[in-house]
Amino acid sequence: MKNVTVGEFIVNTQDNIPGSSGELSKILSAIKLASKIVSHEINKAGLAANIIGAVGSENIQGEEQQKLDLYANEKFINALSARGVICGVASEENESYIAFNNEINNKAKYVVLIDPLDGSSNIDVNVSIGTIFSIFKRKSQGEKPVEISDFLQSGDQQVAAGYIIYGSSTMLVYTTGNGVNGFTFDPGIGVFFLSHPNMKTPKSGEIYSVNEGNLNHFHNGVKKYINYCQSENKEQNKKPYSSRYIGSLVADFHRNLIKGGVYMYPSTKKAPNGKLRLLYECAPLAFIIEQAGGKAISESGRIMDIIPKKLHERTSFFIGSSNMVDTIEQLMNSED
Ligand code: AHG
Ligand code: MN
Ligand code: MN
Repeated sequence: MKNVTVGEFIVNTQDNIPGSSGELSKILSAIKLASKIVSHEINKAGLAANIIGAVGSENIQGEEQQKLDLYANEKFINALSARGVICGVASEENESYIAFNNEINNKAKYVVLIDPLDGSSNIDVNVSIGTIFSIFKRKSQGEKPVEISDFLQSGDQQVAAGYIIYGSSTMLVYTTGNGVNGFTFDPGIGVFFLSHPNMKTPKSGEIYSVNEGNLNHFHNGVKKYINYCQSENKEQNKKPYSSRYIGSLVADFHRNLIKGGVYMYPSTKKAPNGKLRLLYECAPLAFIIEQAGGKAISESGRIMDIIPKKLHERTSFFIGSSNMVDTIEQLMNSED
């Protein structure tokens, strides 16, 4: 496994994917290319004043768009359309999906959903941010432009999902349903190397990640779980867990995946479906955590089972080590 590049790994594992004709490999390769460009730009953010800061516009979800949000959006969409291997893309930054309506792209089998820049509030302060992506096979038949139904599929239908973390190093982590593999970028030679083969998350952990500023507005079951995290039980040899919350989902998720822990974004009265978006934040990370032996649920069941009704649909989200997510589920079920 030593010195295997992500390009070699994709080609070598392509045969494990049923019905693979090399298109999925080309999509992953487009994502890899765009992530290198975005990573380079992010690393310059403190130097070039025209990179950081807000644009002055809001996305469809009423969130202020940052320059890097739009930069990353453009780079990923351009890289994906140029290869002729997907028929359309849906992004957090665009109200509607984009159909790559031309003869070549209409023949393609796949669609991509993407959060091009996750954790945008951390861009200006030199804190880790990320990109999340999800890949489905289109459902509509024929060589026609892609349709909304091609994007509104349950997480279970994903053929691949992954994220890039722009942290102390840049990493690409993805799954095609055969386990999870992580690759670290070597900026000196511009290549991602396999650094974390077959990633598995611990069954239990001692980290909980949640925006505790919202505590008063959480479901009683969630409050009880947070109280349990903070409690000490000498008989069970339980010490209080550590609270760790970066505010970039990718970064919080990545740490907990490796160390064991749980990330929560519950609903509140004001936000009855929480904040995070099902299709390009929760479902792809749910696919990864399940492949790594963990669990992901909403307040009403498994994330991967939810059939979306809207592109930018939100859901409450609890993801991480399976024993921890089980405990939250039990407490939530016993409280309503
Ligand atoms: P994005 O930057 O793509 O809009 O996502 C922000 C998300 C996620 O990254 C993070 O975990 C969460 O928002 C933080 O929300 P709070 O500030 O409400 O805790
Ligand atoms: Mn996000
Ligand atoms: Mn984003």
